[in-house]
Amino acid sequence: MKLLILYYSGTGNTEFACTVAKIVAEKVGHQVAMKTYAEAGEISLGGYDAYCFAAPLQAWQPTKNVERFLKSMPPLNGKACFLITSSGGMPSQAPALMARWLSRKGMAVLGHCDLPSPHSWPVSRRFLHGLDFKWPKVERIRGLAAFTERMLVLEEEFIAGRHVELAEFQVRPTPLFFMSRFERLPRGLPDFVMGRKKVRKDECTRCGVCEENCPMWAITLDPYPVFSRKCTACWRCVNLCPEDCITTTISRRFQYKGLPDREGLLEKAGLR
Ligand SMILES: Cc1cc2nc3c(=O)[nH]c(=O)nc-3n(C[C@H](O)[C@H](O)[C@H](O)COP(=O)(O)O)c2cc1C
Repeated sequence: MKLLILYYSGTGNTEFACTVAKIVAEKVGHQVAMKTYAEAGEISLGGYDAYCFAAPLQAWQPTKNVERFLKSMPPLNGKACFLITSSGGMPSQAPALMARWLSRKGMAVLGHCDLPSPHSWPVSRRFLHGLDFKWPKVERIRGLAAFTERMLVLEEEFIAGRHVELAEFQVRPTPLFFMSRFERLPRGLPDFVMGRKKVRKDECTRCGVCEENCPMWAITLDPYPVFSRKCTACWRCVNLCPEDCITTTISRRFQYKGLPDREGLLEKAGLR
């Protein structure tokens, strides 16, 4: 099969989860393309047999850029896909929302797996997890590998026209769900959620990493980073700044620079 894995990753955990899926799929002989949603415009989306859509969690839902992509992508009628999320341990309604948007594009959604990685969010890094790297757990990585194997078998059955039991996803109108949808509306909320962002101008080299990597195109260099109201408080600029010169009142020293030993983790999980 030709499998397309589409993902967005703010700090690298979702990308890591997709790498696990890619390794598993390649091991069993499938051809895999792994692209970010931003790169998806360069390829013909319909030219694949099987699909995996991946997203990090933000405020109990997939990040806003992923939501925009899934809602605006062309239909993929009659194709099957599976979902991967990376969260702080509360994927909540995100898989159900993704499944809803994808089924509106004519897709069958076979299943979902989450890889919890709570340490990458400066808030939980500061107040819950500290600076250690106990996540993602090796057994959860193995679980994701086993899930991917199962999904690939189901994808093959689906393509062969055999009966496949689809996973059940239902968006439930819970108070948390409404709260999370509401969370995006008020302007100025990012400042409330993450503290007001400050740029240390004496240390900023105006390298443009923040501007290039903002998933909401909310940063411009003028001549130093300026943040517009499109910011959704994803912390990506804070985490990615090579000089650590974008700070907020709660982020200092708690920037997350990605998993330090991805290869070691893959080895421990038996994937290398
Ligand atoms: C602004 C923000 C909001 C988040 N909200 C949630 C959440 O509601 N539930 C959850 O389980 N994790 C939440 N997280 C944690 C991330 O989903 C988690 O760190 C994930 O591994 C990030 O993936 P990435 O490295 O691919 O960006 C949040 C993280 C950020 C930065």
